[in-house]
Amino acid sequence: MADTPEKSGSSICVVIPAAGSGTRLGESLPKAFVDVDGQTIIERCVASVPRSLGASVVVVVPADMIDRARLLLPDDVVVVAGGAHRSESVRAGVAAAGDVEVILVHDAARPLTPASVFTRVVDAIRSGHDAVVPGLPVVDTLKSVTPGDTPGLERVAATVDREPLRAVQTPQGFTRDALLAAHADDSGLATDDAGLAERAGIDVHVVAGSPRAMKITTPWDLAIVRHLLSSGGGGP
Ligand code: CTP
Ligand code: MG
Repeated sequence: MADTPEKSGSSICVVIPAAGSGTRLGESLPKAFVDVDGQTIIERCVASVPRSLGASVVVVVPADMIDRARLLLPDDVVVVAGGAHRSESVRAGVAAAGDVEVILVHDAARPLTPASVFTRVVDAIRSGHDAVVPGLPVVDTLKSVTPGDTPGLERVAATVDREPLRAVQTPQGFTRDALLAAHADDSGLATDDAGLAERAGIDVHVVAGSPRAMKITTPWDLAIVRHLLSSGGGGP
């Protein structure tokens, strides 16, 4: 069947950018190497990749953490050095992914992501979409603001219609060709890979994400994840 968009049986690589410093978390170690209930964030993240995908895994870490990562992670996980910006780290991972058909880019900082989110993304790619991200409806009321006349005070300009908005998570899935095209022109402004794909004119689709795919950014997020794991609530 020459023209089918079906990509079942395609080779998949999960690229995990873990080379950030975790400035907002404020721990003494890079974020991916912080312990959460007896295991590092990066160990938990790698372990969360469902085996059923049959995917290879590339982890991208700060250059001075390569040896540590290799000790922590299973032998079949490829570990490479990242760059100063997230997108540079992703490109280092993609370069090490080899000639696979599908690449999932997944933040190390989302160690509780359920298997169902991975499979929804992969299923949508296999059904013929070039770029697929998990997302959640926004629950808060959103307002755009301008600076107020007093420090600490902002002026509301408008209430934003939240209905069409989605808070986007990872893993973000791409055909390898789409991801390479997305990263060919990186102005350094996109905060995710799908943003680069959109700018490259690639259609990006959204599947349902999960609250458990939350990103550990601040000490508050870390406290939530630690609490979930220590209370037995870390499972899918
Ligand atoms: N990341 C990366 N290389 C970078 C920057 C970020 O691989 N140069 C990774 C992080 O390790 C993380 C993911 O991208 O898994 C999302 O980034 P973020 O949550 O911003 O993590 P940090 O950049 O580490 O945190 P901060 O921005 O607070 O320093
Ligand atoms: Mg960052």
